[in-house]
Amino acid sequence: MAGWPAALPDLPLEEACHGRFPLRVRRAALEHHIGSRVPRVTRFRHDGVPDEAIAPEPAAGKLRIMRPPTPAGFNDALERWNERFSQPGYLFGLAPNAFLVRQSARLRPGSRVLCVADGEGRNSTWLAARGHEVTAFDLSPVAVDKARSLAAERGVAVDNHVAGTDTWEWAPAEYDAVAAIFIQFASPAERPSLFAGMWRTLKPGGLLLIQGYTPKQLEYGTGGPGRLDHLYTADMLRELLPQAQWLELTEHEAELTEGGGHRGRSALIDAVARKT
Ligand SMILES: C[S@@+](CC[C@H](N)C(=O)[O-])C[C@H]1O[C@@H](n2cnc3c(N)ncnc32)[C@H](O)[C@@H]1O
Repeated sequence: MAGWPAALPDLPLEEACHGRFPLRVRRAALEHHIGSRVPRVTRFRHDGVPDEAIAPEPAAGKLRIMRPPTPAGFNDALERWNERFSQPGYLFGLAPNAFLVRQSARLRPGSRVLCVADGEGRNSTWLAARGHEVTAFDLSPVAVDKARSLAAERGVAVDNHVAGTDTWEWAPAEYDAVAAIFIQFASPAERPSLFAGMWRTLKPGGLLLIQGYTPKQLEYGTGGPGRLDHLYTADMLRELLPQAQWLELTEHEAELTEGGGHRGRSALIDAVARKT
């Protein structure tokens, strides 16, 4: 079993496993942490954190999933997202999310739409360009700056805010639609209040548009949080919103090409819930 890699100062695990270090160094840090060997194949989450290591079981010749404890830094979302959005370009591309484009046909002209955790603004600016009155927020000030610039470039008005889902006000009955596109940063403990907030802020008759990843996405590793307990199933969404009228609730697979962040075969869930 490896010791703490000599190449590293005494860093917390999640920093030691950052993508800036070579894979062999990250693997040694992970082996030291979990106390056993990680032969040959090791997968790190796309942001470098070793959420799970997948290694061949020597005897059975099967895959074994070892799950180290959640690195403390997982909760340091602000720093991680700021860093990701500080790279040149747009992490999830400039084109709007294809599910949102399809579902936007359901919106009446001039709808008031809230984009939750909107990132760099690809979705909010597209909705605003379609004539909707759009409010958007995101935890990352770096992303919100880029979203503001994108809105200015595209000549559209979006009411952009820096906020976390836990501090956003969720004013009752404000919006005709809420777009929740890939917001799977919420832990199981955080999900009920997040979904209750999104529901509360919808007007009666309003639509909650959700796209996320299902557990099968762990096999693809082409985007998403890489944590089983953050992924959605249809049953989970039904349970979170028992009062919803489901206009769509489909688990499916598709190729995504959304910047470098979401790219390749993906296991998805598309959901549209109406508040009656
Ligand atoms: C996978 S990205 C999706 C961004 C955007 N919805 C899109 O589809 O392009 C997840 C976003 O959630 C934001 N985020 C993470 N934790 C958050 C929180 N607690 N509150 C609000 N936004 C958060 C990140 O900054 C990031 O922009």
